[in-house]
Amino acid sequence: MLSPREVVRTLPSYHPPLGGRDGLRLDFNENTVGCSPRVLERLRQMRPEDFARYPEREPLEATVAGFLGTDASELLLTNGVDEAIHLLCETYLEPADEALIVVPTFSMYRIYAAATGAKVISVPAGKDFRFPVEDVLGRIARRTRLIAVANPNNPTGTVASREDLLQIAAAAPHAAILVDEAYFEFYGQTLLGHWRELPNLFVARTFSKAYGLAGLRIGVLLGDREQVRAVRRVSSPYNVNSVALACLPDALADQAYVRQYVRDVCAGRKRLERAYASAAIPYWPSAANFVLAHIGSPEFIRKMRERGILVRDRSSDHGCEGCVRITLGPREHTDRLLAALQEAFEELRLGQRASRS
Ligand SMILES: Cc1ncc(COP(=O)(O)O)c(C=O)c1O
Repeated sequence: MLSPREVVRTLPSYHPPLGGRDGLRLDFNENTVGCSPRVLERLRQMRPEDFARYPEREPLEATVAGFLGTDASELLLTNGVDEAIHLLCETYLEPADEALIVVPTFSMYRIYAAATGAKVISVPAGKDFRFPVEDVLGRIARRTRLIAVANPNNPTGTVASREDLLQIAAAAPHAAILVDEAYFEFYGQTLLGHWRELPNLFVARTFSKAYGLAGLRIGVLLGDREQVRAVRRVSSPYNVNSVALACLPDALADQAYVRQYVRDVCAGRKRLERAYASAAIPYWPSAANFVLAHIGSPEFIRKMRERGILVRDRSSDHGCEGCVRITLGPREHTDRLLAALQEAFEELRLGQRASRS
């Protein structure tokens, strides 16, 4: 009988609760309104023959390189950051190797690394999810071939300093260091370009979050040109579809749209953090488009759903028992969120009164 490889049989499966997501979706860290109108206009202009041809990635790699101020040889467009992680694992990990991750973090690092047969070593974050740089440095071994860090991190919204990340990259020149900047636009700090002094360093970015293109699946992996050349070898030449490629220049050109969205999210983030503080709900200050809080009531998620708002239970993540992650969007979504939050807190008699300010 056909049987999957042992590591695949024992792989934890990632089951995002995607079914029946009716309502205001504040559970997936997506853009809660959509993409730039310029992208929609481009979609309307696409012709039948545009769909009949295999997609050409290279011209758009030059466009993205121009936008990011790098050379096209230093990047690879990918089917979201998900694929960038997958490709790095395929490029660098052998079955006896080790991959280091700091938990809690984005689930796909573990899944793709474990699927290669490599051993995944989880380093727990420090108090208040602080980045445990000393512990990571202490776990680097000869067999460490991948270290993946989301910065800002999901689901905590916390960050690692540039110095800590560079120190790790310098201490493990035999390992690929992935700094996953999926939430860069909400944070503003980057390690872009540092692969020129540390050629084992990679940076990943996505168009799924601030740009509102999660459904089109497009991201970018950046790094030293020799390393990127190696990663390119394991990638399908058609990994990014032609609709995503056609829309990319318009998405990049409409920076006013992205800036406004980021401003709205950051204002909403402040309001939500204030509401938690005034209700004495513990939360972790976030540098991303979501906030993690210790609500502690299993009923809270149902109460929010009754009010048409989806939020995400993160209880099963390391150190996140009783925690809920809520994504921010524009002002009208934050208004709805805070009104529902207030009612849910009152019904559950949680904390003090949540502020609507
Ligand atoms: C840290 C992190 N990296 C990557 C992703 C996935 O990004 P993409 O949609 O580009 O695959 C997510 C999505 O939630 C994320 O939180």
